[in-house]
Formats: sequence, C-alpha cells, structure tokens
Amino acid sequence: MKHFTSTKDIADLAALVASAREMKANPFAYEHLGKNKTMVLLFFNPSLRTRLSTEKAANTLGMKVISMNADSGWVIEFEEGAVMNAGSAEHIKEAAPVISQYGDIIGVRTFPTLKDRERDYQEQVIEAFKRYATVPVVSLESATRHPLQSLADVITIEEFKQKERPKVVLSWAPHVRALPQAVPNSFVEWMNIANVDLVVTHPEGYELADAYMGGAKLEYNQEKAFEGADFIYGKNWSSYREYGQILNQDPNWRITQHKLDHWTNQAKFMHCLPVRRNVVVDDAVLDGPNSIVIAQANNRTWAAMAVLREILVELNG
Ligand code: CP
Repeated sequence: MKHFTSTKDIADLAALVASAREMKANPFAYEHLGKNKTMVLLFFNPSLRTRLSTEKAANTLGMKVISMNADSGWVIEFEEGAVMNAGSAEHIKEAAPVISQYGDIIGVRTFPTLKDRERDYQEQVIEAFKRYATVPVVSLESATRHPLQSLADVITIEEFKQKERPKVVLSWAPHVRALPQAVPNSFVEWMNIANVDLVVTHPEGYELADAYMGGAKLEYNQEKAFEGADFIYGKNWSSYREYGQILNQDPNWRITQHKLDHWTNQAKFMHCLPVRRNVVVDDAVLDGPNSIVIAQANNRTWAAMAVLREILVELNG
C-alpha cells in the first residue's frame, strides 16, 4: 500500500479486517515494524478519535509520532501558479517534501469548504500531499472521504453481526450545522465492497454523489428502510446537490428507541462520533443496549494499525 485515501488503495478488505482483529487480540506482536520510523500527523481541522487512535496505533507499532495542528504553522498555498501576495506563506510544493524528511508516513486531516463543490470533490489538499510528498500519505479524513472511520465500521459490523450478510441502513438525521458528506460517502463505498445488504435513507435533496453511491439502494421512507435492519448507522450530512446547504431539519428523522424497537430487527446503533444528543439520536438509544458507538470508536485504533502495518511492511522492504 503506497497511500491510503480510499477503498481503491486496498487489495483485500477481508484480509485487512482479519489483520485488524488479529492485532486487537495481540496488540504488540508487530512492534518491531515501526522501529526507527516516525509518523507525522497534520491536522487542518479538529479531531478527538482520529488523532488519539492513530497516535496509539503508530505507537503500538513501534513508531514515534509528531502531531501538529496546521494552524500553528505557516498558511499553506495549494493553487498552482499562485501569486502569493496575500495570506499564504508557503506552497505545498515545498511543505510536503519538507515534511517528508521528518516523517516516514504523513497523516493528513482536511475538511471540505462546503462552498466550492468542484474544489472539494477534486480533493485538492490530500491530492497535493500525495503528489508532492515523497513518503506514503494516509487520509485522516479528507474533503469527501473518511476511510479509517469506514474501515473501523466494517470491523465493528463484522464483530457484532448475528448473520452472515446483515442488513445495514445508513440513515440521515437532523443537525443544526452543515456537515461534510465525507463519512456517508465513505461508509457507502466501504459497505459496497463488504458482505452486507446496504440501504441508504434520507429526505429528498440529500442524495450522495453517484460516484460514491455506486449500486447502493436508496429508500426515501425511513420506516420502510429500517424494516428488518440489523444495524442503523445514523449520520447527518449537508446537501451535495445544493452544495453545503441545510435543506431539512425535521426532527422526525431523529433516531429513537421506538424506531429501533418497532421498525428494525433490534438493530445495533452506530455513529462515527462526535454526536449531538437528542438532535441526531435520543439519549435512550446512546445510553441503551443497542448502542455500539463506544466499541466502534475503539476499532479506530485497530483499523489504523491494519493500514499502518501494511505500509510499514512495504517501507521495510
Ligand atoms: N469519528 C471521528 O473522525 O472523530 P474525530 O473527528 O474526533 O476524529
């Protein structure tokens, strides 16, 4: 694995999940792989889980970690041919190769603008790091994808499923702020290559981009979508079509215990976190027996370890 930014970078999902589960059972078995290696984590946006789980994963594999909030450095320019006479002080053409001299792997977190769809969906920041860095680049969430989250989601479903091919529903839920499409885009991409029956449900206007939906089934009626579900993945996202807009805040889309009890197959509740209680999902769900969000967050570490292990094996030759 050279870089890790989407499903396109992995060869075998089942093998990656098996690797994560093996390391979860025996965390320090591959500590030798990261000896004398350093991972640089660069955050253009806030994080709790991704930052801590990736640091833990790198440390457990024997690496050293340098973590930096990008806003504590110089403002980086990403435009080709920019006349840098305004805010930005250094170009990615220098920044990425310089960082590559300090780290053997670079992790980057960058959110979308939610204003310029073309720029966001071209993945200007992560693609520039891939282009100009001389070491592997790992997405810690980019403008349109969150692959380490999605891999953790696949691992979690594998751990909790009661049948070979469970029904998984990705449900839009209301929110007070406009959020990226990265988590739902990525979740659908990964579910489309996992052994699950996926249904996506959301109000009209919240359709995800075709390139990410692939052949996933869409059902606008939440109650119909939830029928027989084994897993409900709650998530808000802003509109792709009317880019970055909030088109609906209907509280009837909130995930409730009543819906889990009466509409599903006693579904487990998943969310990437952070989550706004009693806006996206009720306290009763998060505090009740159906919620697996804490176990899901735990799997962020093992997902990151599986990815870093593959990269380290290649780096070590
Ligand atoms: N789920 C997730 O990526 O959490 P953070 O934003 O806290 O990293």
